Amino acid sequence: MSLVENQHYYRQRIDAYLSDLVAALPDLAPTLKSAIGHGLLLGGKRVRPFLAYNTGVMLGLDEAKLDPLAAAVECIHAYSLIHDDLPAMDDDSLRRGQPTVHVAFDEATAILAGDALQGLAFEELAKCQTPSLAGFQKLLVVFAQAAGYHGMVSGQAMDMAATGKELTLSELEQVHAHKTGALIRASVLMPALVAGIAQDQYQQLGVFAEKLGLAFQVQDDILDVTANTETLGKTQGKDQRDHKATYPALLGLNQAKTKAQTLVDEALSCLASLPYNSEHLAALARYVITRER
Ligand code: IPE
Ligand code: IPE
Ligand code: MG
Ligand code: MG
Ligand code: MG
Repeated sequence: MSLVENQHYYRQRIDAYLSDLVAALPDLAPTLKSAIGHGLLLGGKRVRPFLAYNTGVMLGLDEAKLDPLAAAVECIHAYSLIHDDLPAMDDDSLRRGQPTVHVAFDEATAILAGDALQGLAFEELAKCQTPSLAGFQKLLVVFAQAAGYHGMVSGQAMDMAATGKELTLSELEQVHAHKTGALIRASVLMPALVAGIAQDQYQQLGVFAEKLGLAFQVQDDILDVTANTETLGKTQGKDQRDHKATYPALLGLNQAKTKAQTLVDEALSCLASLPYNSEHLAALARYVITRER
């Protein structure tokens, strides 16, 4: 299966699973339910589910075992985007070619949709099966840390604090590793915990995912400069307008591109040292810096 076919297959799989998940929510708060659907179901490349499925399958797991795990990471991702777009944060009106949730609904609904998605993510996580209870506790901690203070949320706080300032390269790397890298790392490491692989391989996969996660956000920064709004599905040029701390702002576009390439090369050599058929993960790693949206 080519990367395109593989991506298409898993995108359809997770889209169907997430759409069933939203449809099954009781009509306690119909507007909130629609807002959740808006933020979760309309587009999205599904890169994190792709990583979860392909890592899991590479390690010998059944796809059906990976559905709730892939859904859990995508629910956290969707929540992070809904909140990232809020007026108090990046104040964006376009996401995935659609009005952002607070524009299509209102701010309170967008805040609550994010909150609800976080709860749903943990409900999905509870459906994951691990070889032991200790394995499940580890899974919970890895996920909660990636989503929360130890990961994405502090990354977003660092991003806000860095706005309008010039950071050092290592400070910027910390922002990106947390706001984006943490959840990408969890998308790879959680299937590894479900599969129960050896510690040295787990560590190696973790390094792969860290390099990939950082490359992903470097490319996101690059696309803000080089892409156009229509292809991107979000407002191009917004980072520069808002004086965001980004790789192109700090290093210039060419060096930012070199950095992204180096990170992907490093990610690929991590993969190559593992005793698995990692062709789909490798193809995804290359895609991360060639993507146009
Ligand atoms: C955008 O993520 C925000 C970042 C963390 C870089 P994606 O580029 O994965 O967004 P979607 O899900 O495809 O819309
Ligand atoms: C977003 O980074 C990171 C998270 C949502 C956690 P950005 O603010 O650069 O993402 P986009 O460009 O709005 O998608
Ligand atoms: Mg942001
Ligand atoms: Mg943003
Ligand atoms: Mg961005």
